[in-house]
Amino acid sequence: MRTPIIAGNWKMNKNPQETQEFLEAIKGKLPESGVEAIIGAPAIDLNALTWFSKDEPLKTAAENCYFEDAGAFTGETSPKALSDMGLDYVIIGHSERRQYFAETDEDINKKAHAILKNNMLPIICCGETLEQRESGKAEEWVTGQIENAVKGISDDDLAKSVVAYEPIWAIGTGKTATADQAQEMVHVIREKIASLYDADTADKVRILYGGSVKPANVKELMSKEDIDGGLVGGASMDPESFLALANFQK
Ligand code: G3H
Repeated sequence: MRTPIIAGNWKMNKNPQETQEFLEAIKGKLPESGVEAIIGAPAIDLNALTWFSKDEPLKTAAENCYFEDAGAFTGETSPKALSDMGLDYVIIGHSERRQYFAETDEDINKKAHAILKNNMLPIICCGETLEQRESGKAEEWVTGQIENAVKGISDDDLAKSVVAYEPIWAIGTGKTATADQAQEMVHVIREKIASLYDADTADKVRILYGGSVKPANVKELMSKEDIDGGLVGGASMDPESFLALANFQK
């Protein structure tokens, strides 16, 4: 039985003051069980999130990290420091990082190893462009991204990790993949993991869908067999909307 996840990804939004206001608004209102609520926030907001999560049923995620623990890497964030701070997850391989910051599959794989070594879990993002989908190459592309990202990761570690399928054409566009389209690709990803590892590992790994998830469509997406949750951008930034998503079972 995989516990569903609702993971916000604030991207480069909210300063510490706005973060504080958001946390005050959701205090005491997150589900105590049945759903794992996560917020991924900019590095400057993570301290507030980790303090909040000591008393509230909220898990925390960084939106990126480097693959070395320390050293002369100006501007980067240490996975060890994130772990020391109490972070639970790190989002890696988001399409915006691949597109604007030239993050490669190899970087993502190194980051996944660094995150696991530091006792956190990666949320590994993958997804195709509209052009790749229209030319029939989406499955090959997405499964290739996954194969490269998980190289050398043990089955135990992968079973605890999270994958997020985010078709690039559905991110921030208001255009959601239909629940059937999302289920179809998430199933393909699970089958790929079964072929790279085994059926048990594939059955345990949680696979999220991301791309214009909102309170109005979350239930339908979550009703699909292989979809274990959502990685949510825009709709995670408003407290009411995040609470509606996190409480989708009620
Ligand atoms: O990480 C989240 C995704 O990029 C989805 O963003 O919900 O604003 O479409 P969105």
